[in-house]
Amino acid sequence: MRTVDLIAKKRDGGELTAEEIAYLIDGYCSGDIPDYQMSAWAMAVFFRGMTARETADLTMAMARSGDQIDLSGIEGVKVDKHSTGGVGDTVTLVLAPLVAAAGVPVAKMSGRGLGHTGGTIDKLESIPGFCVERTKEEFIRQVNECGVAVISQSGNITPADKKLYALRDVTATVNSIPLIASSVMSKKIASGADAIVLDVKTGSGAFMKSLDESMALAQAMVDIGSQVGRETVAVISSMEEPLGSAIGNALEVKEAIKTLKGAGSKPLLELCLALGSYMLVLGKQADNYEEARARLNDVLASGRALEKFKQFIAAQGGDPACVDEPERLPCARRRIPVECPSEGFVSSVDAEQIGIAAMMLGAGREMKDSRIDWSAGIELRKRIGDPVSMGETIAELHFNDTDRDRLDAVRQRVRSAFSIAGAPPEPRPLIYAVVTKDGVKTWTE
Ligand code: URA
Ligand code: CA
Repeated sequence: MRTVDLIAKKRDGGELTAEEIAYLIDGYCSGDIPDYQMSAWAMAVFFRGMTARETADLTMAMARSGDQIDLSGIEGVKVDKHSTGGVGDTVTLVLAPLVAAAGVPVAKMSGRGLGHTGGTIDKLESIPGFCVERTKEEFIRQVNECGVAVISQSGNITPADKKLYALRDVTATVNSIPLIASSVMSKKIASGADAIVLDVKTGSGAFMKSLDESMALAQAMVDIGSQVGRETVAVISSMEEPLGSAIGNALEVKEAIKTLKGAGSKPLLELCLALGSYMLVLGKQADNYEEARARLNDVLASGRALEKFKQFIAAQGGDPACVDEPERLPCARRRIPVECPSEGFVSSVDAEQIGIAAMMLGAGREMKDSRIDWSAGIELRKRIGDPVSMGETIAELHFNDTDRDRLDAVRQRVRSAFSIAGAPPEPRPLIYAVVTKDGVKTWTE
């Protein structure tokens, strides 16, 4: 086989065989195929696309390129959840204990955050004593005993994807649906998932700006799941504002606790219930969505989800008393309000800008080895649709030793992240549609 022939075949609209795709991925990973040839191939894929079969073969070739986590020692169907491009993933903090309390084993390996996207691992580490390092055996034992474990990703998962993603980033080939879909799915499959629930964000703050593109991405990932025997459901949700009202590590843990008590922000709880219900269905803990949803409501109302969160924290060495006394979590020394610059109604809140502002206060890493301030972050006081008057507090900054100039820049950024309109915006759905192996369901709630 010659790489140049495979590039030409794709350039001319041909369909590559599984062997040809494996040849390209293995050769690229080992260094036998140079960046310039892989770039040309990625660009050919960008213009010509891939069939569902090719996309599934590419996914599996990348999944096989490094470590493959074996979770067969855990009883039950391991359902993983992934969110494409959200800011502040408080969802995982709520979902993990919620679905574990309903019987779905949660065995999650998660990453640290970089830039404006917070990592679940960093959030958990803000809980005093919480340890994210566990051996493989301890990890599996904990899931079997407690129902949930979340540890820091180690080892070498999908090196082919890492290398190809970095190349796509500098060759204008990121925005290709088969390349994105295979990238996301390869990581989930290598991490040992039997089934996958995806939260595909759409809107100004998302990777895919239009609903059509988001639907196509969702469909491509569901198709990969069907082809490779990992049932996949994709929920398309709006990203016109951050889901929760807290952005920052300990602040998000506090919001997750509030949500598990039934008192958090409504969109956050709603999306967790929708994603969690599909996790129960794929995890064979409920026969259908309605039954799953009723189970989750029961697990929340009875306090079992909250109790599971305490067990989970204790199992990883953290202080479970934080759940009843959130003031035990790190708390910033200083807080200042951000005032609304004009009068009207909130029409959108740019999640990415809020994420960057929180990072500037110390909640995230500007560089790979920056230290995080667990207590720093932003609390949003207004949401889409809320009426606001000039000078009213729209957000509150939590920080310790941010200097004056930086604080001014953060305030300005938060103010600009809020769009204020003269009239209330048209109400928009939080969830647009759900793609399953049986087709597309538009959402009507
Ligand atoms: N996220 C990924 O993991 N891969 C992509 O290709 C794009 C977004
Ligand atoms: Ca079970």
